[in-house]
Amino acid sequence: MGRNAALGSLLFFLGLFGICTGFEQENCTNYRLQFKVYSVPGDMAMLNSTLVSPNVFDFNTVPYNITWYDSKTGQEMSNQTGRILVQGETLWFLNITLDDSGEYVSVLRTPFQCHRQLTKLVVELPVPGKCGRPKKADQILTKGVADTLSCPLMDYINKLNSYNISSSIKWYRGCEPIEDGTGGYSHRDTTTLGISKVEARNNCSYTCTLTFTLGGLTGSVSETINAEVTEVYSLVPQVHEPANEIIKAHIGYNFSKWCRVFVPGVGKPLVKIVWIARDQLILNSDPSSRVYTSKPRESSQDFPSKGTWLERLLTFSELREEDFHINYTCRAYSSRGNPGGYFTLLPADPDPMLPIGSGLAGVTILFIVSVIVYYLFKVDIALWFRRVFPVLYTNKDLDGKLYDAYVAYPPPCAVGFSKEVEMFALQTLPQVLEKGCGYKLFIAGRDCIPGQAILDSVEENIQASRRLLLLYTASTFTGKRLTSSTSSNNNNHLSKNINSSDNSEIKTGDSSGRTSFDDSDEVYTDTRQQLECVAAMHRVLLEGSLKVVLVELEEITPAQLALFPESVRHLRKKQGAVRWWKNLRKRQRWRTCVRREDEEKHERDTQLSQSLSPSSRFWKEIRYYMPVRGKRAVYPEKTALLNL
Ligand SMILES: *[C@@H]1O[C@H](CO)[C@@H](O)[C@H](O)[C@H]1NC(C)=O
Ligand SMILES: *[C@@H]1O[C@H](CO)[C@@H](O)[C@H](O)[C@H]1NC(C)=O
Ligand SMILES: *[C@@H]1O[C@H](CO)[C@@H](O)[C@H](O)[C@H]1NC(C)=O
Ligand SMILES: *[C@@H]1O[C@H](CO)[C@@H](O)[C@H](O)[C@H]1NC(C)=O
Ligand SMILES: *[C@@H]1O[C@H](CO)[C@@H](O)[C@H](O)[C@H]1NC(C)=O
Ligand SMILES: *[C@@H]1O[C@H](CO)[C@@H](O)[C@H](O)[C@H]1NC(C)=O
Ligand SMILES: *[C@@H]1O[C@H](CO)[C@@H](O)[C@H](O)[C@H]1NC(C)=O
Repeated sequence: MGRNAALGSLLFFLGLFGICTGFEQENCTNYRLQFKVYSVPGDMAMLNSTLVSPNVFDFNTVPYNITWYDSKTGQEMSNQTGRILVQGETLWFLNITLDDSGEYVSVLRTPFQCHRQLTKLVVELPVPGKCGRPKKADQILTKGVADTLSCPLMDYINKLNSYNISSSIKWYRGCEPIEDGTGGYSHRDTTTLGISKVEARNNCSYTCTLTFTLGGLTGSVSETINAEVTEVYSLVPQVHEPANEIIKAHIGYNFSKWCRVFVPGVGKPLVKIVWIARDQLILNSDPSSRVYTSKPRESSQDFPSKGTWLERLLTFSELREEDFHINYTCRAYSSRGNPGGYFTLLPADPDPMLPIGSGLAGVTILFIVSVIVYYLFKVDIALWFRRVFPVLYTNKDLDGKLYDAYVAYPPPCAVGFSKEVEMFALQTLPQVLEKGCGYKLFIAGRDCIPGQAILDSVEENIQASRRLLLLYTASTFTGKRLTSSTSSNNNNHLSKNINSSDNSEIKTGDSSGRTSFDDSDEVYTDTRQQLECVAAMHRVLLEGSLKVVLVELEEITPAQLALFPESVRHLRKKQGAVRWWKNLRKRQRWRTCVRREDEEKHERDTQLSQSLSPSSRFWKEIRYYMPVRGKRAVYPEKTALLNL
């Protein structure tokens, strides 16, 4: 007895030790309860350990073994013919009894690690008088359409397939077996029962039984489905957008894309739509983020078909390089499947016309601006250049000319003559151009050698000048007409002034005043002026050897201009005239032959002194047209040397 007791206590101790050494003592990663398996006595049942998984360890390279333990006794499960089969990660119960109920632990060991997982086996007695299993799975059948039930024994079939063991499924409606192809039922595939048109009578329990032979024993396992027929239904979602498309977009710009899914059916579908990129859900819905989705929105549709639209917007506030070349998938998760659609972003070619266009526009604008600036400041720019870079301009001193300019103006008693014109020609011009700027002028009324033949004098001196300053007033070129048309030309304000002023000192310019001078004088003056004009124009137009500068002393109306000689009009149109009267803006008119001397003289003098500054607009323009006083000397010897 003592011996036996001692042996018993030893066994007990060993048993305890067994428990302790079995797996509880080991430092195993404990995955605790993972599965529940429901069964009934007499059925077969499979307990599968899911520890052989890449999430647990690298089972392809690391050696391992799996041991099953009964957690009640702590004993290792081993093969028992007709009852238990241990096949690696799978523990088979071939003929379940109520006693088999309990928890079983699979322990996976590698040389360095240990993992354990608990599976619970629940054995229940069948409900008396009812076919099928007490534990049921719920499935929904939609009334009025074709629908399916699926047998939840796929795991068994897969496992048996991996053993190369064949199996067969039998379906029951309640207790009655279903024959394939009768009563609107059909076996779609191994695990699916098709119902051609669901009716109210399909609202009952269905059982599928899988029969196979394992470990020398033929047995079966069954699952019962509670099929609920509902009028609310939804069919397979249809992803309309994105339609597996490639979209070109610009880096740096924003971008957004709708996911649009239509779920045909009645009632609110239990469908979730999500955006997925790089296998991860885009859950962010904060609009301040760079990438975010809107909350899904639903709208029902009756026509053309009943259903529900689900929409969700994916937005990139600014596209980056990393957003391109990957799939953005919108997936609809539903009990009837998880269809999806994707789009991929490709960087759009930058618009080739854009830089060219803006470049062209820029050049055009620059050109226009330059032209405007040049025309506005042509004179200032030219004068500035001449002042700053005199070396760029040739020295004209050696060109054989005596004068920089020949000043032609209506001589006394000629038409268009006035004291102001004479004063301008004899005083103002020399004061500014000769004294101020150092030009040498030939002024007909000043430098004429008395007695010289007019023709020779004019010709010679014009030839000796680099420029011709042609001073004129409104009546300078129209005088001839005035004399012949008896002062009826009222367009000419000069003649008006003359006629209307009582105390005017009439010198010339009026037909009545004209008569008081002798004919020879008139012939002389008119001839000189005409000669100057003709000679000058001849050179300008035909030879191009002389530059004529038109100096307009008085504002000219278009009507007056029409009476000007063709050549002057042409020149004025071509190169413009320097307008003295603009310089005297405040006192617009020059009153030829009309003088209100004293009260106006002072005023005019101050104005004149202001307009005598060489930097005023008028003188700048005159200087612009005058010959350049350059520094660069032209040495004939050098040219000759270079030509050698
Ligand atoms: C059983 O578990 C293993 C992982 O340990 C898994 O690969 C296999 O798919 C499972 N079999 C079934 C039928 O669940
Ligand atoms: C399997 O487990 C036993 C202990 O139960 C151990 O001695 C053996 O080394 C293990 N084999 C492998 C390949 O891990
Ligand atoms: C149990 O029997 C099966 C088949 O007979 C065999 O493959 C397996 O290795 C056995 N299991 C154990 C733990 O001996
Ligand atoms: C299952 O076990 C019960 C008793 O536990 C026995 O009566 C029955 O014959 C066994 N079934 C098979 C197929 O061996
Ligand atoms: C289906 O059967 C259940 C009870 O099994 C019942 O509550 C339900 O109303 C039935 N549905 C229809 C559409 O007949
Ligand atoms: C994208 O930017 C444009 C213009 O900057 C703006 O009008 C549009 O609303 C933006 N779109 C989104 C989705 O932010
Ligand atoms: C996007 O998905 C399609 C279809 O699944 C696949 O053919 C394509 O290679 C994927 N493209 C990228 C960039 O992952």
